[in-house]
Amino acid sequence: MRLFFALWPEADTRERIGNAAAALRLPEGARFVPQANYHLTLAFIGEATESQLAVLRRIGRGQRAAGCTITIDAYEYWPESQVVVAVAREPPAALAELWRQLHHDLALHPAAPKRNRQLPPLRAHVTLARKVSQAPVLPAMSPFAWNARSFSLVRSDASAAHSIYTVVDTWLLLDESPTA
Ligand code: 2AM
Repeated sequence: MRLFFALWPEADTRERIGNAAAALRLPEGARFVPQANYHLTLAFIGEATESQLAVLRRIGRGQRAAGCTITIDAYEYWPESQVVVAVAREPPAALAELWRQLHHDLALHPAAPKRNRQLPPLRAHVTLARKVSQAPVLPAMSPFAWNARSFSLVRSDASAAHSIYTVVDTWLLLDESPTA
């Protein structure tokens, strides 16, 4: 099975991302990502066995990062992967910490799937459209907030026209709001 860790948006955020996608005018051949598939990838795992799934669940359960509000504030075209993405130009520190700790734990765990040992740069993004073969003219984005309170381990089945994603497990991020 193919797995990845991601922020999996709630319905209101999914709708805001959908509104951002609806503002795009893309060249013929481009394929918009279905609203149900929007996510912010934290760590791509790739193929994993059942026993590795247990390890990944343990790693997910062990995270202690705080929830955070992410401001999604720009469109970008990434020609190398032919996608248009919505990005957070200034990801909050708590997201950077979750990212760093997840990659650290994955790299250190001997039973986690083999992967690049280097920490990839944090490029906090949601893919809005794929197969965008030419650079489109991108509008300015009306920024919106994503209140991230949990993260998930997600299974990807790429055999259909659009990938089918199934949330395997979800863990709450810590609530850091001051108590009265
Ligand atoms: P994305 O987050 O930029 O859209 C599930 O396949 C998710 O993991 C996809 O949404 C995808 O990118 C990301 N992904 C797929 N293959 C990847 C790879 N080889 N390295 C990093 N991320 C990958």
